[in-house]
Amino acid sequence: KQKIETLPDPFSMVEKELQPFSDSIKELVSTDQPILSMAAKHFFEKRHGKRFRPTIIQLIAKAVAACHPEEIEGDRWEYSGASKIGMEGGKVTVGNHQGSDVWRKQAQLGQIVEMIHVASLIHDDVLDEADTRRGGEAVHKLYSNKVAVLAGDYLLARASVLLARLENTAVVQIMATALESLVAGEIMQLKSSPDELLQMESYLRKSYYKTASLICYACRSVALLGGHAYGSTVATACEEFGFHMGLAFQIQDDILDFTAAASILGKPALADMSLGLSTAPILYAAQEFPHLRPLVKRRFKEQGDKQTALEALYSSDTAMDKAKDLAQFHAQKAVDALLRLPPSEARDALLRLTYVVITRKK
Ligand code: FPP
Ligand code: FPP
Ligand code: MG
Ligand code: MG
Repeated sequence: KQKIETLPDPFSMVEKELQPFSDSIKELVSTDQPILSMAAKHFFEKRHGKRFRPTIIQLIAKAVAACHPEEIEGDRWEYSGASKIGMEGGKVTVGNHQGSDVWRKQAQLGQIVEMIHVASLIHDDVLDEADTRRGGEAVHKLYSNKVAVLAGDYLLARASVLLARLENTAVVQIMATALESLVAGEIMQLKSSPDELLQMESYLRKSYYKTASLICYACRSVALLGGHAYGSTVATACEEFGFHMGLAFQIQDDILDFTAAASILGKPALADMSLGLSTAPILYAAQEFPHLRPLVKRRFKEQGDKQTALEALYSSDTAMDKAKDLAQFHAQKAVDALLRLPPSEARDALLRLTYVVITRKK
C-alpha cells in the first residue's frame, strides 16, 4: 500500500480547471433582480467554501475518461449519443479530454452541483436558524428570511435550466432525483419519531438522503456524460464511491460539530443537539448509557438535557472512536469502489481526497 502523501494532491490537480469556475458561476447566477444576484454571488465569490463537490466531480471526470465505455445491451437509459462524444475511431481521447464537449458538460455539472449545494445551505440556515456560514453571516441574517428563501429558490431554478441545457435526459432524471432526496432527507430529519431518533439506521438513511445523495448521483451523472452506460461497471463504481464518500463526509461533519470550534468551522458548533438531533457520537453514547435514551427521544427538550448528554459523551471511552470508525468504514468502502476504476492520476487523487475527508478539521 502506498503512503497517502505520495498520492497526487486532489485540490492542486484541479486548481486550474476550477479557476474559471467562479467567474462563470457569477455570470450564471446574475439576474435583473439585484438583491437576488447579490445574495447568490455572495456565496460564490469570497465565501466559496471548500469546493469538495466540484473537486470530486472534476476528478471523477478525469478518472472515467481513462477507460473505455463498455457496451451494454438493453441499457435502460438513452444517453443521446454521449458514448460517441470524446471518442475518435473507437478510441477514447483521454489526452483531449480537457476542452472537449464532454469535458465542458462535466464541468458544468460541477457548477450545477455547487449551485444546488449552496441553495440547500441558504435554506438550511433558515430552517436551522443558524446565523453564520462559511465564516460570515448567513444570507438570512445579511438580508432577511424572505430574501434567503427566494435566493435559494432562484439558484435552484438556475441550476435546473443549466441541467436541462446538458441535453441528457438520463442525467436530468438522475439529478432531479437527487433534489428530491435532499428535501426528503430534511423532512425525515424534521419528522423522525422518538424511536427513529435513537436508531443508527435512521440516522444513516437520513444522512444518505440529505448529504450523500447529491454527490452520489452527481458521480454517476459524470460517468454517463463521459459516455459510460447507466448499468456499466464504471458508472456503478462512481455512484458507490459517491455514496460512501458522502456518508463518510457527513459522519465526519457530525463529529466536528462536537470537536471543533465555531471559529474554525465558520458555522455554529454544537448545533445538532440544539436542533434536537442525535448524530453518530451521541447514538453510540446512548448505546453505552441507557439514561441518555429518553433525552434523545425527547430531542433534548428539557433543561439540562444537552449538558447531561455531552458529559456522557465525553466520559465515554468508546463513543467518539466508534463514530470515527464508522466514518473510516465508509471511507474504506469509497476506496474499494475507486479501485474498481482503471488506474489513473485522478483516481489516486480521489483516494487521497477520501483520506482528507475523514481527517479534516473543518
Ligand atoms: C456543508 O458542506 C454542508 C453540509 C455539512 C451538509 C453535509 C453534506 C455534505 C458535507 C456533503 C458532501 C459530501 C461530499 C462527499 C463532499 P461543506 O462543509 O462542504 O460546506 P462548504 O461548501 O461551505 O465547504
Ligand atoms: C446541511 O445539513 C443541509 C443539507 C445537506 C441539505 C439541506 C436541504 C434542504 C434545506 C432542502 C432544500 C433543498 C434545496 C435544493 C433548496 P446540516 O444542517 O446538518 O449541516 P450544517 O452544519 O452545515 O448546517
Ligand atoms: Mg444546518
Ligand atoms: Mg440542517
